[in-house]
Parts: sequence; C-alpha cells; structure tokens
Amino acid sequence: MNMPVTSGTFVPAARDLHLPTFRELEHLPGLKPHPLPLLRTIEFLKDPLQGVRNNVANFGHVYRVNNFGGWNVGLIGPDANELVLFDREKNFSSDLGWTPILGRVFPRGLMLLDFDHHRADRKTLSVAFKPEPMRHYLNQLNEGIARGIKALPVDTEFKFYPAIKALTLDLAATSFLGIAWGPEADKINRAFVDMVAASIGIVRVPLPGTAMGRGVKAHRFMSRFFAREIPKRRGAAGDDFFTQFCNATNDAGELLSDQEIIDHMNFLMMAAHDTLTSSLTSTLYHLAKYPEWQERLRTEILAVRAEAGPTLPFDRLGDLEQTEWAFKEALRLFPPVPSIPRRALRDFEFEGRHIPGGTHVGVNPMFTHRMPEYWEDPETFDPSRFSHNRSKGRHKYAWVPFGGGAHMCIGLHFAYMQMKTFFYTLLSEYRVTVSDGYTCDFAMFPIPKPKDGLPIRLMRL
Ligand code: HEM
Repeated sequence: MNMPVTSGTFVPAARDLHLPTFRELEHLPGLKPHPLPLLRTIEFLKDPLQGVRNNVANFGHVYRVNNFGGWNVGLIGPDANELVLFDREKNFSSDLGWTPILGRVFPRGLMLLDFDHHRADRKTLSVAFKPEPMRHYLNQLNEGIARGIKALPVDTEFKFYPAIKALTLDLAATSFLGIAWGPEADKINRAFVDMVAASIGIVRVPLPGTAMGRGVKAHRFMSRFFAREIPKRRGAAGDDFFTQFCNATNDAGELLSDQEIIDHMNFLMMAAHDTLTSSLTSTLYHLAKYPEWQERLRTEILAVRAEAGPTLPFDRLGDLEQTEWAFKEALRLFPPVPSIPRRALRDFEFEGRHIPGGTHVGVNPMFTHRMPEYWEDPETFDPSRFSHNRSKGRHKYAWVPFGGGAHMCIGLHFAYMQMKTFFYTLLSEYRVTVSDGYTCDFAMFPIPKPKDGLPIRLMRL
C-alpha cells in the first residue's frame, strides 16, 4: 500500500540530498575535524552524558559534532525537541535519520517511513493498539509475567537484566506473535536477539563473525518465518499483533502486502524489546535503591489487589498512579532512546543559527531530561515530580522518552501496561533489594543497560 507522496511532503532519496561538509557547517560552534575520528567515537561512548554536557558547556544549544564519523548537528533542549519532533514545517525526515543506523536490519519499519506513507501505515497498524486487543495482551501479560516471576531465584543474588530480557522475549512470543512458549519461540528469540544486537553494533557491514553479519542472517530467518505464517493468519482470528497486522486494512479497504507485514513486524519487535528491557531494569533498580518508594508502590498495589485479586484487570490500570510516576522518573533518568536522529530536508534556523538542508541532526532526551532549567534537583530520583500539581506548567517537550509528533511511540500504552503488570505481580509478593551502598553504573548508549547486569535479591514478603 505505497501511498502516493504529495509534492508538499516529497522526500528526496538520501543519494540526491547534499551532505554538508565540515566547511559548510563551519559557521556553527562545535568540534573540529579529528585525525582519528574512531578515537573520538570511543571517547564519546565511555560517557555519552558527560560528552553532551561538555559540548553544551563549550558550544551552547546548537553545535557541530562528528562523534560517529559523519558531521551532524546537535540541537539541545525542549524547544529543539519540539521543533524537530513536532516538525510543523515537515522539515525533517525520520527515514533518512534512522536508515543509516537501522536500515540494513529493519528496512521500511514504521519509524523509517515519512509523511503520507508513514501516516497511512501508522493508521492501518493502529488497529492493533486499540483497547480491545490491548485487553487481550494484558491477559497474556498477566499469565506470562506470573509464570516468569515464579521462576526467578529467591533469597539469592542474581542478575536482573538478563532475567528481564529473557522474560520480555518470552512475553513477545505470545502477545506479538501468538505462538506458544517452547522450542520454536526459543529459535525466534535467538534470531531476534541477533537482529537487535546488529542494529546497535559498531561494525555497520555484514562481515562474517560480526554482530551485523549475524543480524542480517537472523533477518532472513525471521522474514522467512513471517512469510510462512502470513497465509495462515490471513482471515484468522488472533489476539496477537502479528495476526492483527495480517488482517488490518487501509482507508481503501486493502490489506498490507506480505512484505509490508514482514517489515512492520520485524521493526515492531525490535522497537519494543530493548526499550522495555531497559526501562523495567532502571525502574526496578531505583525501587530497590530507594525502599521508601518501593513501599509506597507496594501499598498502592496491595490496595488494588485487595479488591481485584492477583490478576491486574484492564480497568484498574489507571489506579496505579504512583507506579506510573516511578516509571516516568526512571525513563527521565535513563531514556531508552537517549538521542533521536533526523535529516533536514531543507535549510532551517534554530536559536538564530542557520542549518543547511541535508544535515543530519539529533535531539537529545538524555540531556534534556537532566536540564536544571526544567528539572529541580535533576540527578535525584523523585517520582512525585510527575504528580499532577508538580507537572503543571512544565514545557511539553521537556520529557520526551517516547518522542513526540507524528512518530511518537505507538507502543507507549503497551509499555505502561507491561510495566504495571510486572510490578503489580512482583511487589505484591516480593521485596527487592540491592547490596548496601550499591550504585548501578549504566552504559547510556545506544540503550541504557547496567554494566554489571544489576545484581539484586528477591525476598518473599
Ligand atoms: C519504555 C518503552 C519504550 C520507549 C521508551 C520507546 C521509545 C520510542 C521513541 C522515542 C520512539 C520515537 C522515535 C523517533 O521519533 O524517531 C518510538 C517509536 C516507536 N515505538 Fe516505542 N518505545 C517503547 C516501547 C515500545 C513498544 C512496547 C512498542 C510496541 C509494542 C513500540 C513500538 C514503536 C514503534 C512501532 C515506533 C515507531 C512509531 C512511528 O514511527 O510512527 N515501542 N518509541
């Protein structure tokens, strides 16, 4: 269902768009060419948050960098987020921003489409995110999470990050693909892990033995799996994303093609997986580190559970208000998508600076979320900053873990639902602790992840 692209939203192919050189960006403050750009990348990856802090301190809110090889322009702060993400003028291509990073393993995913084509496909896919299917996913989440939590070790230290990663994958097998747990799900999980690893690997060509090599192979495996399954799912009833996509129609009543379903499924699973793993990990870490908040959430959860029982009902999701604050606060401190790339389709201005069309630009949730101008005491974990009263008057683009505008995360309600189901089940039965004085060191890029896997202990209440 390739939609005709109207002249107002014409997106040139990357090869037809001029890539500004250092000279053409020289009027901007920023880094100078480096004799060994790879060293700069390695240096930046050691501490990306500090790297951005240095850049902002040295150059301000608009600056030129080449942390990952090519030149691009960092646009910093809530106003920049609004300009680029809301994109009133249709100046910024998400496709041309993300394709160099994700295009080889996740071609034509929703985030890699622009304007009319994007809008049409997003509308078609949105049927799978409506309340009715969400209720079904919640049933599956309740069941899968209860089983997953039962299998976790009790009274002994274990690494939370790999455990929640495995659980998130198993949950995806049922709610995303509609397949039972077992050997087939395991094979798919392995292929899927390889695809995600490739998308964030440093080597960008599919050489044998590299993450990208394994990712491209896994992409073929997954695509064949979907292609085999699509005919069985067409016309069938099913409460999973895949079956919903196989039967979704556009405004003209047409189904998505097989290739479109394959591309959207591959992308959707990637978009959900590491983001959920990362955000559940950072939320759990803060609840273990700040037991007073863990206790507040437990009180809230037990009050709902006393009426609703052990299975969280869909119409009680809204009652877990403080649980939601804690999640939002963890997303503030460790946004799973720390920076968001776009490519400018035409010249534009920000804070009086001229940026030529063709420039790769990036906005930065990670830095924005810690700007003292917008966040009191920004380094402190304080979920109540998301209470109704304290949120009033805050810049709408000061908190953007899910992005904003046309590409805003389509799965954000699913993310809230999985998070609430997880903590509802966990905290009503277990206390979570970390060792005294423990502070977790998170690698921020490309997706925040505890360097030590986050050792925790569960104790039955
Ligand atoms: C805490 C969890 C999550 C976070 C922080 C997150 C973050 C984001 C962000 C920042 C974007 C926009 C990127 C951009 O504008 O370039 C995005 C888009 C997207 N997300 Fe999520 N995401 C999460 C969970 C999920 C889940 C669970 C799903 C699927 C069920 C999902 C599916 C998608 C899709 C399909 C897009 C592309 C939307 C479009 O281009 O229209 N995400 N996500």
